[in-house]
Amino acid sequence: MRQANSIFAVSSPIVLILAAGQGTRMRSKMPKVLHELCGRPMVLWPVHAALEAGAERVVVVDSPERTLERVLPEGVELAVQERANGTGGAVQAAMSYCDSEPRSGPDSSPEAGLDPDAPVVVLSGDVPLVSAEAIRGLIQAHGQSGAVATMVTAILEDPSGYGRVLRDAAGAVERVVETKEQGDATPQERQIQEVNTGIYAFDAHALRQALPRLTAENAQGELYLPQVFDLLRAEGGTVAAHVVDDPKLVLGVNDRVALAQVWELAQAAIHERHMRAGVAIVDPAGTVIEVDVEIGADTVIEPFTTIKGSTKIGEGCAVRHSYLVDCVLEDGASVGPFGYLRPGTVLRKGAKAGTFVEVKNSDIGPEAKIPHLSYIGDADVGERTNLGAGTITANYDGRQKHRTKIGSRVRGGVDTSFVAPVTVGDDAYTAAGSVVTKDVPAGALAMARSRQENIEGFAEQQGRRLHSEER
Ligand code: UD1
Ligand code: MG
Repeated sequence: MRQANSIFAVSSPIVLILAAGQGTRMRSKMPKVLHELCGRPMVLWPVHAALEAGAERVVVVDSPERTLERVLPEGVELAVQERANGTGGAVQAAMSYCDSEPRSGPDSSPEAGLDPDAPVVVLSGDVPLVSAEAIRGLIQAHGQSGAVATMVTAILEDPSGYGRVLRDAAGAVERVVETKEQGDATPQERQIQEVNTGIYAFDAHALRQALPRLTAENAQGELYLPQVFDLLRAEGGTVAAHVVDDPKLVLGVNDRVALAQVWELAQAAIHERHMRAGVAIVDPAGTVIEVDVEIGADTVIEPFTTIKGSTKIGEGCAVRHSYLVDCVLEDGASVGPFGYLRPGTVLRKGAKAGTFVEVKNSDIGPEAKIPHLSYIGDADVGERTNLGAGTITANYDGRQKHRTKIGSRVRGGVDTSFVAPVTVGDDAYTAAGSVVTKDVPAGALAMARSRQENIEGFAEQQGRRLHSEER
């Protein structure tokens, strides 16, 4: 980061991420910024972008409950806003935290003291699609313009709910009018399509001077951060506007409708990244892939598939109409149609979990097959083993989970239940319909069912004549 400074002559920024608001428009018991976007809490999207942009410190503003603490990566700091009194109050809380705390950010080497010239970048926890590139672009524009503050703006077709940007004759930002509540903006101001994205770069000194002078004289009775611009202008400072190329990337999420819209955009970007890397996604619109999922080239993802969490899929796999969570598929593995792979499942090279097969916390060996209608939980299955249709591991005795160990090249008959803990040796067989409660030695056939008995002449005993007219 220090080296980058000397090359570009721009200080690495301190990034503040405002996330202490209640998010009442979500109508949720959970804080807004903890709602997930493609498998990652919303607030972590700007956090990752800030880290990627080379932030000197990343400070997230949280409510006194500190609900965000558990999701923040190491090195990201948390400042508490005692009362949700507006975005201005959030930045006040963040700045007084920064000034009182010795720095402890991502680059916390002792020589990396707090740079007094570092710009302060403000992001919103509810504007998740902001990219590292956009943050770098803002810092560069801010450095070049010589303005005391630079606001990222966007031209939106439907600007409703956003603060609108009023420009002066010279094109600089005059002020922002809020439109969330009645009372702040006039009908003419509501026509303006240029919006404040809630993303800014400030000269740190100027920001510190202005913050204590914010007032709550507005429709919501809150401290609005954009009032800082009025104060800076009154002192003769210029506030520049930096219009983003792609307004979709600065959409704010205030309710669940907007979250779904942003989700669609984030999902499309994730799909594109995989497709460009060689993954076949047959019908992107019918495929959910969370942000941390890894997929190898030439893997085919067929429609109506959901892949979540930290799932890692190798090359040349086939995933058909299935639901995968925190699992691993090695090269050439296949799942589905209608597979459900739960956390801790590993399908080794070429292994198959077929139609209506659920697997949990199990290691399925190379080329092993579980083709139909099975539940395999807490099991180790050896290579090239084939478990027949309807195989079930009874892994839970009502109190504890137990493991089932099945060796290599085992042939499990259809409808076999393995009552764990139980071990089956290599090359063993089970007879169809067996309930296997005892270990099976290598090479043995386990028959664990009542023997069939045929009662000859039963029908005649019942008084029925065979080959009779009643047929
Ligand atoms: C804000 C801007 C608006 C802009 C929009 C862009 C203000 C007054 N308005 O409006 O001009 O168009 O963002 O998305 O700034 N927060 C706190 N503490 C608080 C209040 C909010 O940390 O006391 C956080 C929220 O958690 C949220 C962010 O600040 O992440 C923005 O707050 P929000 O209430 O969503 O502001 P908007 O109405 O969207
Ligand atoms: Mg908002």
